Amino acid sequence: MNWRKDFVWGTATSSYQIEGAAFEDGKGLSVWDIFTKENNRIFEGHTGEVACDHYHRMKEDVALLAELGVKAYRFSISWPRIIPHGTGEVNEKGIQFYSDLVDELLKHQITPYVTLFHWDYPNELEMQGGWLNPESSNWFAAYTEAVASAFGNRVKNYITFNEPQIFTWLGYDKCTHAPGIKYPTGRILAMCRNIALAHGKSVIKLRELAPDCRVGYAPTCGNAYWPLEETDFLAAKAKELQNSININDWLYSSAFWNELFLNGRFHEQCKTLFGEDLPELTGQEQALISQPLDFCGMNLYQGTSVSLGGTGEAVLGKLPAGHGKTGMGWPITPKAMYWAVKNFYETYHLPLFITENGMSALDIISLDGFVHDPGRIDYVTRHLSELERAISDGAEVEGYFLWSFMDNFEWEKGYDDRFGIVYIDYETQRRIPKDSFYWYQSLIKSSS
Ligand code: BGC
Repeated sequence: MNWRKDFVWGTATSSYQIEGAAFEDGKGLSVWDIFTKENNRIFEGHTGEVACDHYHRMKEDVALLAELGVKAYRFSISWPRIIPHGTGEVNEKGIQFYSDLVDELLKHQITPYVTLFHWDYPNELEMQGGWLNPESSNWFAAYTEAVASAFGNRVKNYITFNEPQIFTWLGYDKCTHAPGIKYPTGRILAMCRNIALAHGKSVIKLRELAPDCRVGYAPTCGNAYWPLEETDFLAAKAKELQNSININDWLYSSAFWNELFLNGRFHEQCKTLFGEDLPELTGQEQALISQPLDFCGMNLYQGTSVSLGGTGEAVLGKLPAGHGKTGMGWPITPKAMYWAVKNFYETYHLPLFITENGMSALDIISLDGFVHDPGRIDYVTRHLSELERAISDGAEVEGYFLWSFMDNFEWEKGYDDRFGIVYIDYETQRRIPKDSFYWYQSLIKSSS
């Protein structure tokens, strides 16, 4: 593969999934601290209380990142760790932790990419209605201000929201994620509006306090449509589906969120789909939300195939019998990478970062003491090769963050699924770089 020398090679994690120290040094409670204590929410009752103990092993982890040779590391800040009540007083110990992390990364020439919100919402704010509260966007702006004031001199790359699809859909509709409160559609739409306002206000704050920074957001491309046969008809159908929404998965779709965050408006199909439930957005609010971004992130794990049915109709999700799957049972669909990137770029003309891509596997420590994960190497190779095809065909892609740097708390699946290129032995907290770690290391070396 032939990569630009300045291509940003990185890995990603998030605060609740790796940090642990859930009740230490003045950290406030997040909705995940509460949710994981509820019966039958999480696989075998696992919690993020200790997770990978990254809070106490940060230097060791950064040393491993340095050994890996990544140019960038994407991590998220735990809002309640730095503002325990969600608003008001800042927790200096929380600030210190992230400040030390940033310094440690910079010491090793690793560029920090900070995600402001990767789902560990302050519980005290949830108690006040969370994203439904009319003040919620101002709370997020104040949190952004605390982050930018503390780190803006050293952190130049920010992602406001990670996957608004997932925390709204799974948190307030499916209820498999925190806080697990079922809301009707009208309320969820009102919440989406406030989240979009929060994003806009956050971008403004970042530009004000860290004027030389670059900002984006990181939606998931969950239903990335790709043509099973690459005919013009199916390719056009895949693009049409990618850019439209339907009543069954509007909240999960990238089209709904990209229209909202990037163009500041509800998708054109929303009026018909939601009627009276659809909130208003004034012209001023639309302008506030659609702050120009420097890049868009894309988290991509799998896609939905589009094929031709017997009577010429498009059939969704069909794959040959026995098609490959990840440890989590997700179909392995590398072509989704090519089509999602190409279709996004042709629609929005914004430079992209792949902010997450990777796979869970049933990794074990072999008798020889190593963790062999050829499936993951194969998965990433195939996705990178499709990414490179999209770049050769004109898409502007600045970097790739492999999910994840280390095995971690996989939300409702607890520690059952392993996404890392570093194996975590949760009993001893020993870190064991997997074969994919050394493979990625040599790829970065030869491509930089
Ligand atoms: C999330 C990660 C998660 C990964 C694998 C993404 O939806 O951003 O937090 O671990 O997918 O499920």
